[in-house]
Amino acid sequence: MNLLEVRDISKTYGRGEAAVHALKRVTFTVPKGEFVAIVGESGSGKSTLLNLIGALDTPTAGEIFIDGRDIFAMGDSSLTVFRRRNIGFIFQSFNLIPELTVEQNIIFPVLLDYQKPDKKYLEELLTVLNLKERRHHLPSQLSGGQQQRVAIGRALITRPALILADEPTGNLDTQNTSEAIALLKEASRKYEQTIIMITHSRSIAQTADRILQVSDGVLTDYGRCRE
Ligand SMILES: Nc1ncnc2c1ncn2[C@@H]1O[C@H](COP(=O)(O)OP(=O)(O)OP(=O)(O)O)[C@@H](O)[C@H]1O
Ligand SMILES: [Mg+2]
Repeated sequence: MNLLEVRDISKTYGRGEAAVHALKRVTFTVPKGEFVAIVGESGSGKSTLLNLIGALDTPTAGEIFIDGRDIFAMGDSSLTVFRRRNIGFIFQSFNLIPELTVEQNIIFPVLLDYQKPDKKYLEELLTVLNLKERRHHLPSQLSGGQQQRVAIGRALITRPALILADEPTGNLDTQNTSEAIALLKEASRKYEQTIIMITHSRSIAQTADRILQVSDGVLTDYGRCRE
């Protein structure tokens, strides 16, 4: 079963002479549980693609199915709920809420959905993310690596089927980076989550199950890295 199906997606920004064809007829599928790395030069269309998969933007043409649902055929309010329950985002700039503590930032997506946080899972996340002693701190009182781990916790707390990460380790050193990636992989294995991660790091890409390259809006699938 494919968790994600991207069908003939194109995205053009602007029009006429100023038009930028950011994505050109991109098609690929991702099975449930796979860890996919997206690589490519700056400006090639990687973030555009990830934002479309997360329904943060709408395509000029094409369709995207997540867990069999045509995301652009959904109404705004059902799309918002679907996104909240099924997709976890990790951005390069961690987008933490400055007024909320570590713990409050992590459970925020659950509160947004008017649900009760799973206390046991929260404790588990705080433990594996090594944030237990920092749970009542504000983001401004944390190191870059710690903020990154809060952002990972926030993406995982709802146990989303799909995790979208746009250069999540861009600001971190090698040690923090490999720890962050290991955590994501562990969670995704445990809960059969699919990860799509944009990265400029060759070594991170090589730990993925599959590498997709975007060049000037065109996608090339290099297939599975290992069986
Ligand atoms: N809102 C926008 N309006 C107009 N053009 C845009 C917009 N967003 C992106 N673009 C253009 O679309 C192209 C793809 O941008 P995108 O952000 O997807 O690149 P990227 O591969 O993520 O690059 P980077 O590695 O630098 O993050 C670029 O040429 C960019 O200038
Ligand atoms: Mg980008």
